[in-house]
Amino acid sequence: MNFQTRKWVKPENLNPNGTLFGGSLLRWIDEEAAIYAICQMGNQRVVTKFMSEINFVSSARQGDIIKLGMTATHFGPTSITLRCEVRNKITRKSILTVEKMVFVNLDENGEPAPHGRTQIRDADEAVARYRENSRPVAQPPVAVGENAMERVEADKMH
Ligand SMILES: CC(C)(COP(=O)(O)OP(=O)(O)OC[C@H]1O[C@@H](n2cnc3c(N)ncnc32)[C@H](O)[C@@H]1OP(=O)(O)O)[C@@H](O)C(=O)NCCC(=O)NCCS
Repeated sequence: MNFQTRKWVKPENLNPNGTLFGGSLLRWIDEEAAIYAICQMGNQRVVTKFMSEINFVSSARQGDIIKLGMTATHFGPTSITLRCEVRNKITRKSILTVEKMVFVNLDENGEPAPHGRTQIRDADEAVARYRENSRPVAQPPVAVGENAMERVEADKMH
């Protein structure tokens, strides 16, 4: 299992009992799992389809550091199934596991589309693939005389 992300439990993440609020944790899990699925399938149009039941077996307190682990357990034609485990680095206890999270790969019309993957890519390959398929961010054209050094020179003259 790939534990890539750590989170620091802060006051805004607590429930009235003073422990980690489940909603904060689920948000982190969904985001981490979506990033994993996006990198594995090489497409940004990915949605959460299904999450199995969640059993919170231990918790975390303010100041604790938790780590989120993901692994792919199944590649379907248009979906990927992940397993997730969250651990508390301070207490060394498991906080929860999610046995099954399904993400669906979509086309530009929002319909399920084949992703062509059958096995786990390693992290570097997954990120490289994600970079290739990311929409390029439009850069504003640089006009003549607009570069930084020319601006400095122009400022000195005024
Ligand atoms: C994702 C969505 C387009 C799928 O539509 P759909 O009609 O269920 O599509 P399909 O029946 O073709 O199923 C697509 C894939 O999901 C899987 N799937 C569908 N229902 C599932 C379920 N209950 N549990 C697990 N997997 C399921 C199918 O097995 C299929 O995967 P495969 O091709 O790898 O076998 C549609 O359900 C949707 O838009 N849901 C809302 C998603 C969303 O908003 N999520 C929250 C925010 S990210």
